Amino acid sequence: MRAVVFRDPQRPVEVADVELDAPGPGEVRVRIAAAGVCHSDLHVRQGDWRVAAPLVMGHEGSGTVVAIGPGVTSVTPGDRVILSWVPACGRCRTCLAGHPARCELCADVLVPNGVLYDGTTRLHIGGERLHHYLSVSSFAEEAVVPESGAIPVHADAPLDVLALIGCGVATGVGAVLRTAAVPEGASVAVIGCGGVGLSVVQGARLARAGRVIAVDLAQERCDLALTLGATDAVVAGAGDVVEAVLEVTEAGVDFAFDAIGKVQTTEQAVRMLGLGGAAVVVGLPPSGARASFDPLTLAEREQRILGSNYGGTHPHEDFPRLVELYLTGELRLDELVSGRRPLEDAEAALADLAAGRALRTLLVPSL
Ligand SMILES: NC(=O)c1ccc[n+]([C@@H]2O[C@H](COP(=O)([O-])OP(=O)(O)OC[C@H]3O[C@@H](n4cnc5c(N)ncnc54)[C@H](O)[C@@H]3O)[C@@H](O)[C@H]2O)c1
Ligand SMILES: [Zn+2]
Ligand SMILES: [Zn+2]
Repeated sequence: MRAVVFRDPQRPVEVADVELDAPGPGEVRVRIAAAGVCHSDLHVRQGDWRVAAPLVMGHEGSGTVVAIGPGVTSVTPGDRVILSWVPACGRCRTCLAGHPARCELCADVLVPNGVLYDGTTRLHIGGERLHHYLSVSSFAEEAVVPESGAIPVHADAPLDVLALIGCGVATGVGAVLRTAAVPEGASVAVIGCGGVGLSVVQGARLARAGRVIAVDLAQERCDLALTLGATDAVVAGAGDVVEAVLEVTEAGVDFAFDAIGKVQTTEQAVRMLGLGGAAVVVGLPPSGARASFDPLTLAEREQRILGSNYGGTHPHEDFPRLVELYLTGELRLDELVSGRRPLEDAEAALADLAAGRALRTLLVPSL
């Protein structure tokens, strides 16, 4: 099958002819309908993080089950699925405590080693073994994933656009509803209006937040945020972003989401908080980054800094709900898609994301 392979940051990603093994026990083979290009894929491409390479890229995707391994009971061939990049084991300490997005096995074994649960991979080029990216590897015609990473979608919705739920949307909406549990009427600032940040904006609208202040370098992203639920927008760049947000809320915001992950934006999120406010770190920096904050202010003003991995999502509960919200028009996905391209355009799509020319590109293997 054709798949987009990353080897090292010095060279472009390329489509290669990759062998995909049959699904083993507890695994599912999926024909990919579409894969979204997320900034995390760009972090990989740019060498920001240590990853098990070579790997098949992509962690946001949707498709149709084409085969199941022994013991699989939750899906059958023909089922439509959204892929989850935390295929929780269901048995570790954090899974049992009710936090599937913190699954210890995913965090400590699957992600760092680029393998599935038996410690091996299903991806090869001849004798060369390729790794899975976040147990998904959706920039490909097909993928073999753990059963718990294939979330069935029974609603009659266009499958390609549902790919976005698999990362950006689950992360952004989940950061609001799960990580922060934003209450009705709270004031919210969202720094960064890409696929993740615009999903935070929509999550804030779903939570019936009060003021929702969107911040982005690009005027058109701010304009889009205003159509998706933001009440105010700040174009970053010219003046001080924190001052501009404080002009809207005066007392500071109840919640500030960093949906970019630059050290500067994380620090801005903390600085724009009001009394009892919480900064939520959703955007991811390169490994080794350090941000600073004023501990005295944090304590005196009872503020909090929260990390959010995958929006603390519970995929089996949240993905079907997000699909329903899309079908009722309360969650907008089509507006987040800036284009559909073939797998061969993966490198160009990543470059367009880096340059701010693309919002979410869907890579569609059948194009
Ligand atoms: N925590 C998680 O589980 C998780 C999941 C998915 C993505 N992420 C991370 O979230 C971040 C955002 O992902 P994305 O796909 O939405 O990215 P994106 O590239 O689509 O969007 C980033 C946005 O930030 C804006 N921006 C950049 N610098 C800015 C600045 N200094 N001030 C204001 N705006 C600025 C850009 O114009 C763009 O609109 C990435 O770091 C990604 O790795 C985290
Ligand atoms: Zn992502
Ligand atoms: Zn677990």
